[in-house]
Amino acid sequence: MPTIACIDDLRDLARRRVPRAFFEYADSGSYSQDTLRANREDMKKILLRQRVMVDVSARDVSTTVIGQKLAMPLVLAPIGLLGMQHGDGEILAAQAANEAGIPFTLSTMSVGSIEDVAEGTGKPFWFQLYVIRDREFIKDLLARARAANCSVLVLTVDLQVLGQRHRDVHNGLTVPLQIKLSNVLDVATKPAWIASIARAKRKTFGNIAGHVKGMENVNSLAQWTNQQFDPALNWKDVEWIKSQWGGKLIIKGILDVEDARIACDVGADGIVVSNHGGRQLDGAPSSISALPRVADAVGARTDILFDGGVRTGADLMRALALGAKCCMVGRPYVWGLGAMGKAGVAKAIECLRKELEVTMALTGTRNISEIGPQVLADWPRNTA
Ligand SMILES: Cc1cc2nc3c(=O)[nH]c(=O)nc-3n(C[C@H](O)[C@H](O)[C@H](O)COP(=O)(O)O)c2cc1C
Repeated sequence: MPTIACIDDLRDLARRRVPRAFFEYADSGSYSQDTLRANREDMKKILLRQRVMVDVSARDVSTTVIGQKLAMPLVLAPIGLLGMQHGDGEILAAQAANEAGIPFTLSTMSVGSIEDVAEGTGKPFWFQLYVIRDREFIKDLLARARAANCSVLVLTVDLQVLGQRHRDVHNGLTVPLQIKLSNVLDVATKPAWIASIARAKRKTFGNIAGHVKGMENVNSLAQWTNQQFDPALNWKDVEWIKSQWGGKLIIKGILDVEDARIACDVGADGIVVSNHGGRQLDGAPSSISALPRVADAVGARTDILFDGGVRTGADLMRALALGAKCCMVGRPYVWGLGAMGKAGVAKAIECLRKELEVTMALTGTRNISEIGPQVLADWPRNTA
């Protein structure tokens, strides 16, 4: 077993263990991938302020987000087709998140269903909703999430239409899926992956199969999904969703100050400053560059979550310093899952936690509430 020191090591291992089409599905961004790259490049430009001789023997990384106590300021982001990185991927990731004391968010487009994850964990998790045209289906989906004790609804608002990822087109991972010879040959070289998928409870979109008549196999489901995403979705729909849900609501996919204000006006308990990991509007600013303005505008009105390009504990610190209450991560735990199943997800979380603890120590910070703009090297900005 290779030694894993950081998230990049998990990515290297996932690349070897997961079929190319699914590895690249997770790794890629949309179109020219400029926004995907900006998420990392802009993150690294933010310098931290080294402080010394502060007693940092007792450090605490726990925090509270929308009334929920978290062992650290981290949430596993919703990931479509997670169960294709490793069999039963959603259940395993949710278990690892529970053991680490942080929330797991189940995507509408997951392989494992709401009921599978509820049964496999026995603990509340977060559920992410894509609004599709069939509102009866949405109503039913929300009732299922409520019945499964999901504690938070994450409404994703940046995917009314799908940004194209060129690698998915080349790999035949279009909608509907194509079975290409190159994919078959590549999959044949990943026996551990084949075994994990063969053992898995499900091999198709678990939240949809069996709940929509005639939609029992991957191809027709994918086609149905493509036709069903609702380009007419608008702020008026949030009221209806809130009334159907009745619990805590986070709106995910906000980059703009005006949208952030409207999200607060419609009563979001939290927002996620996010560009969908550089997978939707290519040419949009990096999430980290958008965060300070959004935090200034609505940080006092709602809890701000952040995602896009978080790969280290220092990145968690950067986002918190710029106004986020906690971060979501996508690819870091996707790679962990593909590399080593549940142990890989646990490893990804552990890498981020340990790095955060060290970063806190070396910036003279003892707990999460102490993290503010003063941990940044350019503080105080523009003052003599
Ligand atoms: C493979 C993959 C699938 C995703 N699927 C969903 C999804 O189903 N719903 C959603 O709201 N966001 C989805 N996202 C976006 C993530 O929730 C998150 O915003 C993004 O991954 C954060 O960026 P990071 O990967 O750099 O951490 C997906 C991202 C990836 C990489």
